[in-house]
Amino acid sequence: MSLLSSALKRIKPSPTIAISNKARELKASGRDIIALSAGEPDFDTPENIKEAAIAAIRRGETKYTAVDGIPELKAAICRKFKRENGLDYKPSQVTVGTGGKQVLFNALVATVDAGDEVIIPAPFWVSYPDIVEFCGGTPVPAMTTLEDNFKLRPEVLEAAITPKTKWLIFNSPSNPSGAAYSFDELKALTDVLVKHPHVWILTDDMYEHLVYDDFKFVTPAQVEPALYDRTLTMNGVSKAYCMTGWRIGYAAGPEALIKAIGTLQSQSTSNPSSIAQWAALEALDGPQDFIAENNKVFKERRDLVVSMLNQTKGLTCPKPEGAFYVFPSCAGTIGKTTPTGVKITNDEVFATELLNAEGVAVVHGSAFGLGPAFRISYATATTDLEEACRRIQRFCGSLG
Ligand SMILES: Cc1ncc(COP(=O)(O)O)c(C=O)c1O
Repeated sequence: MSLLSSALKRIKPSPTIAISNKARELKASGRDIIALSAGEPDFDTPENIKEAAIAAIRRGETKYTAVDGIPELKAAICRKFKRENGLDYKPSQVTVGTGGKQVLFNALVATVDAGDEVIIPAPFWVSYPDIVEFCGGTPVPAMTTLEDNFKLRPEVLEAAITPKTKWLIFNSPSNPSGAAYSFDELKALTDVLVKHPHVWILTDDMYEHLVYDDFKFVTPAQVEPALYDRTLTMNGVSKAYCMTGWRIGYAAGPEALIKAIGTLQSQSTSNPSSIAQWAALEALDGPQDFIAENNKVFKERRDLVVSMLNQTKGLTCPKPEGAFYVFPSCAGTIGKTTPTGVKITNDEVFATELLNAEGVAVVHGSAFGLGPAFRISYATATTDLEEACRRIQRFCGSLG
């Protein structure tokens, strides 16, 4: 008899975390490594947020809280949705969890039965298909192309929908491509969804604030109010507020679904950290101007990386609207050979050989469901990025 459950056997460790760990090990062994694999801002949490957490500790906010969030934070989340997205939610429609990942996990575990299909536009964040599989559901990748800047076409969405479709997971700006949908681009997709009332929409808006060049972020329930009753709008403080370690994510949607998520959470982790909840409240209600300052730096880095990659033999890199990732195609390197005699047969070999030859850690695109490509996170010091791009240029130039 096997110790491990069949549900556990359906999932694998996150490849992005695995590559970051490998880069860390190589660095510890003395190698000169530049890791472009991390999914978190390199900026520190703003001081006012840290102070709010310290004040919460001093006030004794150190006990269990309501399972799915303190009323003060839920009220701040309702204000956020109204202010930034024009969406009306009551506190009873809001749930707070230990990171956006737990909220997403809860939502899928609470709703996906064996045989249910979940449409996931590719390239996708690595956790989506694994969580669906953990639930016994079937992830259905909906492919995008480099030519479309990795944005889903409405006819591809339409073709992916079947009577078994439970959810579409939508993520804009996207991890890993950085692609973000304009109002019109999203409306073309919501027009399809309106025709299929059995399909629910789980929108992962985690990178909402990380958009550049005056891009205007929109979310499905805002673009198409007819979808409000079957949309779960998920967000969190991890990325925009530089709070990845604090572990606070949240979502708003129909009350019955929110209640089910709370029931599940009550039998697993209970409330997210009381202290982190008070910090998240300050993040949402406090000054927001540092986001624009951080975005100025992110935009400069994006422009630098896109420009250097597009001057690299064998690579093509679209310029994405948001997040802190770019997703260049390495199709032009496939079939070539490294000076050490290794043939680049796919993007995983490309990433491994790049790490071996030049000490640059990137994540292969096929881990995100679309290759041959790779993901670069530019949430790292600009000087390191420039050096990493020079090394990538040298590596690609060395292939024969
Ligand atoms: C698209 C996307 N959604 C959700 C998350 C999870 O965020 P959190 O750290 O709040 O769990 C991430 C983190 O990498 C992400 O990239």
